[in-house]
Amino acid sequence: MTIPFNDLNPLHKQLSWEIDTAVQRVLKSGWYILGPEVEAFENAFAAYHGVKYAVGVANGTDAIELALRAAGIGVGDEVITVSHTAVATICAVERAGAKPILVDIDPRTYTMSAAAAEAAITPRTRAVLPVHLYGQPADLDAIRALCERHHLLLIEDCAQAHGARHQGRLVGTFGAMGTFSFYPTKNLGAYGDGGAVITNDPALVEKLRRLRNYGQSKRYHHDERGINSRLDELQAAILSVKLSHLDECNFTRRRLAGVYDAHLRGVLTPEVREGAHHVYHLYVARHFHRDALMEFLKTKEIGTLIHYPVPNHLQKGYLDLGYAPGSLPHTEAAAKEIVSLPLYIGLSEDQVKEVARTINTWSQALGESRAES
Ligand SMILES: Cc1ncc(COP(=O)(O)O)c(C=O)c1O
Repeated sequence: MTIPFNDLNPLHKQLSWEIDTAVQRVLKSGWYILGPEVEAFENAFAAYHGVKYAVGVANGTDAIELALRAAGIGVGDEVITVSHTAVATICAVERAGAKPILVDIDPRTYTMSAAAAEAAITPRTRAVLPVHLYGQPADLDAIRALCERHHLLLIEDCAQAHGARHQGRLVGTFGAMGTFSFYPTKNLGAYGDGGAVITNDPALVEKLRRLRNYGQSKRYHHDERGINSRLDELQAAILSVKLSHLDECNFTRRRLAGVYDAHLRGVLTPEVREGAHHVYHLYVARHFHRDALMEFLKTKEIGTLIHYPVPNHLQKGYLDLGYAPGSLPHTEAAAKEIVSLPLYIGLSEDQVKEVARTINTWSQALGESRAES
């Protein structure tokens, strides 16, 4: 049985009538960028989060960059984030002109260590940017408290955690702004690129709306320097359809993750923090012999990926940030041992059990061969 790492087709099939209707509506409207569909999606996305505003942008990287720029963070400022994230988080901080300060993860949950973040604060620190990695909220109580203590802005990178909750409250609503990506594979995915920033602050919203559209306050009047980071009508119409199914999709992801939890033996998985409503953008397992495990799964036609194989502070393109190997030990140890297993809408419980059984057989055989030698 071939089990791909991901497959976007089953969800598309399930929603195809609704999506086709939305797409046809946009095609016939004659209006394709920043129009009524974007406004409707922004309103629905804000309402889903119980916040006043959402601003649609071109992707999740721009969402972070524009959130920082809207808050006046740029050259000379430091932003504390994790190395254990998609490179986009770090790219966005630099694009805003600020310096990313990369800290280690909590080795149990693989999200930002609040203690490490606090230790990294300098007089130039302006913001803390935790990432709700794999769909699990970071340690928001501790991170929010340290932001309050040190008068720092909290901006949450929710690109992997649409619909995740901490103590019952949706991620993205704990700080000044929450940023989202709608890359197709995300829990809320478009059929192309897309992103959004949510906030309750009207001044930030005004600025975000200008910045995403060349700094324009009214047509052809540019009050400041912005960029082109607009959400298009097709993506917004599709996202409105998919938003109405987000909770049921997350429910399915959590159910499938529960099947992995119940059946997997011989591998570690990140701990789920108490009070966390994890939405399993990714189901990640950990094993000392990760590469051999991935090879074995490949021979059984089971797809896997690593999120992420090289910590960002050790990526070739980022060596000039100045972090030596060994500087973020928990991040580096995780990168060597983690593997993401298949998890998507349309994957069956039997397929999850099959993946778990295959891993269990492999780890048992490994244990036996080591016992013999
Ligand atoms: C944690 C994280 N932050 C930011 C991004 C950037 O999103 P996008 O690819 O839409 O620019 C991603 C997605 O790749 C992500 O996973």
